[in-house]
Amino acid sequence: MEIKKSKALNGEVIIPGDKSISHRSIMLGGISEGITEVHHFLQGADCLSSIDCFRKMGIRIENHHDIVRIHGRGLRGLKQPESVLDTGNSGTTTRLISGLLAAQNFESILNGDESIQKRPMTRIITPLARMGSQIESLNHNGCTPLHIKGGALKGINYNSPVASAQVKSAILLAGLYADKATSVTEPYLSRNHTELMMKSFGVNLESSHTTTTIYPVNQLSAQKIIVPGDISSAAYFIAAALIVPNSHLFIKNVGINPTRSGLLDVCRDMGADIALENIRDKETEPVADIIVKSSSLQGTVIEGAIIPRLIDELPVIAILACFANGQTVIKDAKELKVKETNRIDTVSENLSLMGANVTPTDDGMIIQGGSPLHGAVIDSKADHRIAMSFSVAALNCEGMTTIKGSDCIDISYPTFFMDLAKLTK
Ligand code: S3P
Repeated sequence: MEIKKSKALNGEVIIPGDKSISHRSIMLGGISEGITEVHHFLQGADCLSSIDCFRKMGIRIENHHDIVRIHGRGLRGLKQPESVLDTGNSGTTTRLISGLLAAQNFESILNGDESIQKRPMTRIITPLARMGSQIESLNHNGCTPLHIKGGALKGINYNSPVASAQVKSAILLAGLYADKATSVTEPYLSRNHTELMMKSFGVNLESSHTTTTIYPVNQLSAQKIIVPGDISSAAYFIAAALIVPNSHLFIKNVGINPTRSGLLDVCRDMGADIALENIRDKETEPVADIIVKSSSLQGTVIEGAIIPRLIDELPVIAILACFANGQTVIKDAKELKVKETNRIDTVSENLSLMGANVTPTDDGMIIQGGSPLHGAVIDSKADHRIAMSFSVAALNCEGMTTIKGSDCIDISYPTFFMDLAKLTK
């Protein structure tokens, strides 16, 4: 994909469904009684991997794009898959399904693509094994392929070393089947979509500070779910409007769950002209329309408890930092190293190619902003968030930028380039 400097971004965009919530709708729908109907489901490759795995376990799923219908077979209704469960590029599918498989009376093997085969799974193997499942990394490297022999599970109190919603959710899904309550404590609160959705399906859960406790259930009841737009996808348009002069965007239908909205706090901190309108669904997954105008930005420090609230937005925040005056420091973000790529490296290397002043650190990066960037050949390394973040940077770079491997946007935002083209001049 080739992208040139843009004069302005103007107009309106409707953000596709939230990836995290779409995954969870398939999983909880599959183990519920009745038909779960999901509107605005994200038709990205990651969520399709979740659908594919559940179909392999005997769940009927009708995908009519605008509406997905999951014919739940109850807590004990999953069937042993006849082949390997292929989780593609999706960490969420791999880790969350492992929690469910840990409790099933059958054996299964999970595997994904080259990137997934490098991502750490010990973080879920350890707690799930402690609950009583037999779960093994077949190459003995803590990664997929995983062989899971499920069975009766014990409730545990687990202190997670990482603030990860994928780890927390795997344990909570296993906890549905345990002999007693299970609790997970994380260093900082990670996104809470699993907890919110489980509650709507009738599960008894308690949350206090960074501890979540789940009580085992006999059944979940199917629900109607309207998936909000994904703030991680909206982030690209927010950033683009901020850095391209003369821009004014109306970004509709964005999920603003406080465990996900760290980007908005950082933007405000940097001096961004950003407003939220029509805030709705405050009791469940809150949604708003966002109005953004080009702004003069200042550098900032991003650290501590806010990191899990914006972990997927850090690549595009690094782009913002290049166009801000002064220094931006990102720290406490070691988790960036174990995403679809090592995002400390992929962001720093590609930003340097554009002429940015960026220093990678062990847990983040330091960026001196304010100097102009130029077009470059960017290797996305098949990481969707890198491809989209650098497409945004390209809009305010002198000359042409080429994004190699840009097809990977299919993972979380298949219509990204089409939506962007409608807004740019
Ligand atoms: C996700 C949680 C995050 C995030 C990922 C989706 C989820 O990962 O990076 O894109 O849906 O639970 P961690 O929880 O492992 O940080």
